[in-house]
Amino acid sequence: MFSIRRAERGDSAEIAGNWTALMGQNRRFNPRLLALKPDSLAVYKKFLEKQFSSKKARVFVAEADGKVIGHVMVSVKKLPPVYAIDTEAYVDELFVKERFRGKGVGTALLREAEKWAKQMGLREFSLATNVKNTRAQKVYRDFGFGGLNLKLVKFLG
Ligand SMILES: CC(C)(COP(=O)(O)OP(=O)(O)OC[C@H]1O[C@@H](n2cnc3c(N)ncnc32)[C@H](O)[C@@H]1OP(=O)(O)O)[C@@H](O)C(=O)NCCC(=O)NCCS
Repeated sequence: MFSIRRAERGDSAEIAGNWTALMGQNRRFNPRLLALKPDSLAVYKKFLEKQFSSKKARVFVAEADGKVIGHVMVSVKKLPPVYAIDTEAYVDELFVKERFRGKGVGTALLREAEKWAKQMGLREFSLATNVKNTRAQKVYRDFGFGGLNLKLVKFLG
């Protein structure tokens, strides 16, 4: 059993731990990924603090037995000014601790993020995931996301 709630400052260390694991996974998917700054964790924690108090972002955690087992970060992103709507909801991060995966936690976190996006009056919900992250892609497609753009990267040095 798990429950979802809005994240609080006291969850920072757990969420930052999830972020570190996410970054490690991204590097395993692509070893040429840009190197992180030596103080990237401190930079991330500062960013997280800002997200907690921002009206344009929400962080939710999944909790089991009083412990954080996953989180989602969603925020309002600007769209190019040519479109009839100028903002969308964007999933910045989704992470579930390994031993709690495959039990619906990730999907429940996405549902909460989508609910917030709708409350914000947003009409588009999007995210990006590594092309090699087939597990996450299945979760997203089952949730109703479909491919739109494919970001291509050429490393220049
Ligand atoms: C992607 C992630 C958030 C999904 O969370 P989750 O709680 O496992 O997802 P759910 O339980 O809601 O979804 C279950 C689906 O995921 C897939 N899945 C979950 N665990 C799996 C596993 N161990 N092996 C293979 N597929 C698995 C299954 O296809 C399952 O679909 P089903 O409902 O048909 O069985 C989680 O795997 C994760 O944190 N991964 C590492 C971080 C990451 O990749 N985040 C996304 C970055 S964009």
